[in-house]
Amino acid sequence: CGIIAHVGERRAISPLVTGLEKLEYRGYDSAGIAVKNGSGLDVWKCSGQVSDLKETIDGVESSATLGIGHTRWSTHGPPTDENAHPHTNRTNQVAAVHNGIIENYAALKDTLEEKGYEFTSDTDTEVIPNLVSYYLDRGNEPLAAFQHAVDTLEGSYAIAVVIDGNDSIYAARQGSPLVLGVDEDSYFLASDVPAFLDHTKNVVYLEDGDTVEVRADGVDITDEDDVTVRREVETVDWNPDETGKGQFDHFMLKEIHTQPTSLQKTLEGRLDPASGEIELDIETDLSEVDSVQLVGCGTSYHAALFGASLLNRCDVPARAIRASEYDLTTGSLTDNTLFIAVTQSGETADTLSALRQVNEEGVETLAVTNVVQSTAAREADEPVYIRAGPEIGVAATKTFSSQAAVLTLLSQHLSDIVDSGVPADNLDRLVSDMADLPDAVERVLQTSDAKRLAREYLDMNAYFFIGRGLGCSVAKEGALKFKEITYEHAEGFASGELKHGPLALVTDRTPVFAVCTDGSDKTVTNAKEAKTRGAPIVAICPSDHQIMDAADEHLYVPDRHPVCTNLLANVQLQLLSYYCATELDREIDKPRNLAKSVTVE
Ligand code: G6P
Repeated sequence: CGIIAHVGERRAISPLVTGLEKLEYRGYDSAGIAVKNGSGLDVWKCSGQVSDLKETIDGVESSATLGIGHTRWSTHGPPTDENAHPHTNRTNQVAAVHNGIIENYAALKDTLEEKGYEFTSDTDTEVIPNLVSYYLDRGNEPLAAFQHAVDTLEGSYAIAVVIDGNDSIYAARQGSPLVLGVDEDSYFLASDVPAFLDHTKNVVYLEDGDTVEVRADGVDITDEDDVTVRREVETVDWNPDETGKGQFDHFMLKEIHTQPTSLQKTLEGRLDPASGEIELDIETDLSEVDSVQLVGCGTSYHAALFGASLLNRCDVPARAIRASEYDLTTGSLTDNTLFIAVTQSGETADTLSALRQVNEEGVETLAVTNVVQSTAAREADEPVYIRAGPEIGVAATKTFSSQAAVLTLLSQHLSDIVDSGVPADNLDRLVSDMADLPDAVERVLQTSDAKRLAREYLDMNAYFFIGRGLGCSVAKEGALKFKEITYEHAEGFASGELKHGPLALVTDRTPVFAVCTDGSDKTVTNAKEAKTRGAPIVAICPSDHQIMDAADEHLYVPDRHPVCTNLLANVQLQLLSYYCATELDREIDKPRNLAKSVTVE
């Protein structure tokens, strides 16, 4: 879910709505705003996207300068008008927006109902305005009423509240992101910086346990010990243009095409092709590391697989583990295990939960993340930023490439300093091909045949993606991308596993996309096994690869160090998914039922 709030000199509705549009990647099944006008609180909300909310408020003239807004990804209760945020108490005295989960809401709701407070939605959020109202009814000042209410809540939350007759926004953060934007004549609160980047780049990153009162003329922050604190104003280096679609039809296509630039930023200053050196600036002493766990979800898990594969090749024992499956028994943790949280947003609840478990154990932790000061960045011992710039499309593209690039550098960094480590095969070539990766991606983007191919293979029964080693993580990622945005059935396998079950599904209506990015002929054999059963074969490979004879179609990638060839193959598969989804007229940037960052376990 995404939260936005505004208080200041200018009218509130427009920055609230544009802020919600920028936050829609966090959830888009309902949206709403509440503003304080001269005589009370006005609330507009509906199920559907922000565009539906815009229709609802079309023609509304409001001079309100203070308000809150929300875009939702349902957890408690289906996406209905009633369940959309903001939620109010019965008398419309308090309106609240919330991201996260209130774990004790059922008990609070029972208690409040016994005292005569009324509930109309299925959400956990509705206890918040009622609690604030309860404490106001008992004679508390607004700030105290809000603080009492927050003290009563258990769970994770970012909350913003407006109270009728009062010129402040009250907010709190506990386990869900909330940042304060500081403009010359206004303040913003939001789940993420892009929500107000059109207005200001000056940001205060709030901490867990903070409660905040924001007025047009200033901000008061109280920390978890009830001490008034000043937090530093930082300037982000994201450009507002980065959060728009530019000349592209979709954010996803823009982000695919941004990869030459985003990879350039990822790699900048971190490798030197002249000396063949990798200089990943990590302060944590990793020399004693004896094993590595890489933990993530979805696309980030596939980047973790890619990283684990590289580390193992450097003789550094490593395992990728799905964060949702993680507990301390899933992998054997030693005192010298390095735990790496791989998470674009830095806010995925499953990944944070795994990180928190190992933090308790005292092992070294890193967060490979895109979002500066995200929860993972702060809770890990050290963040390693992938510097991919804002990614808005729900289907992750450029952040996968940048995560995989950073994990490649990290694997070499570890191989250098860990006793057992040995450098990658052909390290010189790896360094020079990595340095050239942005240009190679550009070439693939310019010459890709994915658009034509996408049309050839519409209307099939299922889509299989196979690959070996690094190619297996690319095949799995290719299949995930495909299912996320086309809604077609797609699966990614280790090439050799095809014959151990999935082959039963193979027919002439199940194209097999074979990622052939290493010298081995095994994937070729496996692709042929599928071809014999009638499956069309599309090879993603360098132009002289031995699979050429067996394949019906090709998506070419330059022949580079296997790390780079695989990342280039992934770009081809991103384009394939994109063009299939556009042919099918899908909602590319906001696929049904998904959200970019899932902040519940
Ligand atoms: C959600 C998104 C996926 C993403 C995953 C992990 O499920 O829909 O696209 O890969 O979260 O996100 P993270 O921010 O941790 O990389």
